[in-house]
Amino acid sequence: MATSAGTNTIASRDLRLESLTKEFATFTAVKSLDLVVPQGKFFALLGPSGCGKTTTLRMVAGLDTPTSGHIYLGDQEVTYDKPYKRPVNTVFQNYALFPHLDIFENVAFGLKRRGIKDIKKEVGDMLDLVELTSQSTKKPTQMSGGQQQRVALARALINRPEVLLLDEPLGALDLKLRRAMQIELKRIQTEVGLTFIHVTHDQEEAMTMADTIAVMNGGVIEQMGAPGELYDNPKTTFVANFLGQSNLLSGDIVGRDGQQVIATLQGTKVSVLADRAHADSGSGWIGIRPEKVMLAEVGGQIDAPGNRIEGGVISDVSFVGVSTQYLIRMPWGQELMAFEQNTGHRGLFSVGTRVDVSWRPEYAFLLDASQDATAGTTDADE
Ligand SMILES: Nc1ncnc2c1ncn2[C@@H]1O[C@H](COP(=O)(O)OP(=O)(O)OP(=O)(O)O)[C@@H](O)[C@H]1O
Ligand SMILES: [Mg+2]
Repeated sequence: MATSAGTNTIASRDLRLESLTKEFATFTAVKSLDLVVPQGKFFALLGPSGCGKTTTLRMVAGLDTPTSGHIYLGDQEVTYDKPYKRPVNTVFQNYALFPHLDIFENVAFGLKRRGIKDIKKEVGDMLDLVELTSQSTKKPTQMSGGQQQRVALARALINRPEVLLLDEPLGALDLKLRRAMQIELKRIQTEVGLTFIHVTHDQEEAMTMADTIAVMNGGVIEQMGAPGELYDNPKTTFVANFLGQSNLLSGDIVGRDGQQVIATLQGTKVSVLADRAHADSGSGWIGIRPEKVMLAEVGGQIDAPGNRIEGGVISDVSFVGVSTQYLIRMPWGQELMAFEQNTGHRGLFSVGTRVDVSWRPEYAFLLDASQDATAGTTDADE
């Protein structure tokens, strides 16, 4: 292992990508990516199909050579190192266990290949970690998808990589198992303290598991941050729509007033906190998450100061048990979405009910109107 070259500015073994670019014949899959993944963190690379996630991972693993740019682990450059020379392991969606070997032997494989003799304790510890001790003599075909995925994880972790790359590792599992494995994976990562880079196009998965999410779109990173930060303060329409859902309302920006930016929305004055305003003049998209939209019957009381918009009519009601999803047609023709918890404090609204809508100004955000309001929605993906 390389020792520090003397600067203390780089934390010991952070993974750093610098201007990393991958061009295929006629197509640039990854465009000058700059990224730091702090050592020991759970990092998620989130984005729609084809945005360059796998290509990025393959370059980190050494399976693809970058067209240009650099990859560092701490201050050691690994850009052109052979895959087996890098302290990096990958777990793929199709976990490809050795079918003729039992679980113990599958997990032991990496140790044996390196000529390590005394493997019993280490394999035992690893099977403990993934909670498969009692299954060690089974063959892969005798196990469930989730169990096989845990074997694949153990098989990668036993090589003690510094960085574990996970490319849609839960993609083949059904929803319930997927949710359980998300919690499991997070637990294992916390326990072993390695750097995990988890690639997914499932935004919920990224939010549940990651310390930091990088939202990728068309070969570039649109925004990066803690899940709550990205969710509450998206900087682009793509992030606002891809990570959860957003109502984007066309408004005209009036200007800044202290810590707030004031805009008019169909004649109503609304405000947005300055640090959530990513446009400061002209027209803008005023963004509000559906669960932050509050409803009341016309003229009724709403527990939110300011930003009340009148004249809505319920146009659709979907009851989903814990909550109800409403569409509200506004006087200017746009439909807003609102999620309401079914606390039972009043009955559901029915289609045709006239309502007012409101939200707490501190939850709104403001985006540049030159961006496509449907970027990152499922419609735009088709
Ligand atoms: N070997 C290749 N030759 C040409 N183009 C490629 C090659 N590999 C990938 N691409 C293209 O690069 C783009 C990024 O592909 P990549 O596999 O990184 O996407 P992804 O984000 O992992 O998508 P998914 O979620 O579907 O797995 C795609 O448009 C793909 O068609
Ligand atoms: Mg992929």
